[in-house]
Amino acid sequence: MRLDVVTIFPEYLEPLNVSLVGKARARGQLDVRIHHLREWTHDRHHTVDDTPYGGGPGMVMKPDPWGEALDEVIGSGEGEPVIVVPTPSGRPFTQQLAQELSERPWLVFTPARYEGIDRRVIEEYAERHDVREISIGDYVLAGGEAPVLVMVEAVARLLPGVLGNADSHRDDSFASGAMASLLEGPVYTKPPLWRDRGIPEVLLSGHHGRVERWRRDRALERTSAHRPDLIRELGAGTLDRHDRAT
Ligand code: ADE
Repeated sequence: MRLDVVTIFPEYLEPLNVSLVGKARARGQLDVRIHHLREWTHDRHHTVDDTPYGGGPGMVMKPDPWGEALDEVIGSGEGEPVIVVPTPSGRPFTQQLAQELSERPWLVFTPARYEGIDRRVIEEYAERHDVREISIGDYVLAGGEAPVLVMVEAVARLLPGVLGNADSHRDDSFASGAMASLLEGPVYTKPPLWRDRGIPEVLLSGHHGRVERWRRDRALERTSAHRPDLIRELGAGTLDRHDRAT
């Protein structure tokens, strides 16, 4: 998969050299290219922002550098990229959207600073490309770079061969499958006794059926406590007799 990021803070994307994403790059599973937006400015100060028409606080990112940058980046590859525009006014980023993006060969991210990018840029590229305005949550960050890190990590770990164990995202919170829409319950490892605290007996029983039942009960408890909205959304028939008792 190819990933391009156009930003005025290339150093903000340095975590993409580390850990899961860094290793995927080193193995050639991810081709990540970071571009400095100011390279597509032509004035002495490398200006990327200006005051908003209609007044108001803050600055707006100018269309000219974004247009030149996107033309060059998009023109440098084969095929059709998805252009991902991080913005608090976008559609919510979900596991399902991460899955959908992970199935595309090429993503171009356009993290903005200030009050966002001149609207005409989004309109212009949406006429010819698949443009997605995406929010990572109901809070406002100072820019889209942190959201890019979040989205790239969520997408990269879904690529075939990137996680060591292909099963390890099967039971993820929000994954599809038997544990669909439930939050993951607690996990334990050695030692069996830590500060007088033991391990739930059932996990030591070797009884696969009882372990699965226990995990599902804990997932239901945690989901009820932290995300009652998800329990309400579970389709009729998703809960069995045991679940309802939990
Ligand atoms: N830029 C600023 N806040 C954001 C958010 N919550 N999601 C995506 N991009 C953003």
